[in-house]
Amino acid sequence: ATGDAEAGEKVFSKCKACHSIVDADGEAIQKGGRNGPNLYGIFERVAGSDEEFGKKYGDDLVAAGEGGLVWIEEAFVPYVQDPRAFLRETLDDSKARSKMTFKLRDEEDAANVWAYLVSVGPA
Ligand code: HEM
Repeated sequence: ATGDAEAGEKVFSKCKACHSIVDADGEAIQKGGRNGPNLYGIFERVAGSDEEFGKKYGDDLVAAGEGGLVWIEEAFVPYVQDPRAFLRETLDDSKARSKMTFKLRDEEDAANVWAYLVSVGPA
């Protein structure tokens, strides 16, 4: 990852309203909200595939995952900057929708939060 994980941990406070980070043993690394999927192990995870979040995913994010979208930095950064625009471009569908309405506009913040998420994920 190109970002600064320590700076990214602070950025994560903006994600916490909707996202937790809970490891495979059920240990909470970040106790946040549950309106969004658990972000533990997001590195190389297929988009829209967290089993616990399941049917709460939007159809378009699931379709992107089925179409081959996996979370790597090059996808994650533009996604969090503007999830709906990212899905529209990825799916080449001008009507695609995202259930994540939050936008983290700053690219450096996005790269930093990615570095943080990778740093707390499984080795
Ligand atoms: C989905 C990251 C903030 C609600 C996602 C996904 C990522 C992500 C990577 C896709 C996960 C997957 O495919 O399993 C982030 C980061 C945030 C943030 C890094 C902070 C910078 C928020 C906030 C909310 C939110 C504040 C609620 C207001 C959601 C929801 C989804 C989602 C509902 C599912 C989207 C869908 O099914 O279309 N988020 N998120 N997120 N996030 Fe966030």
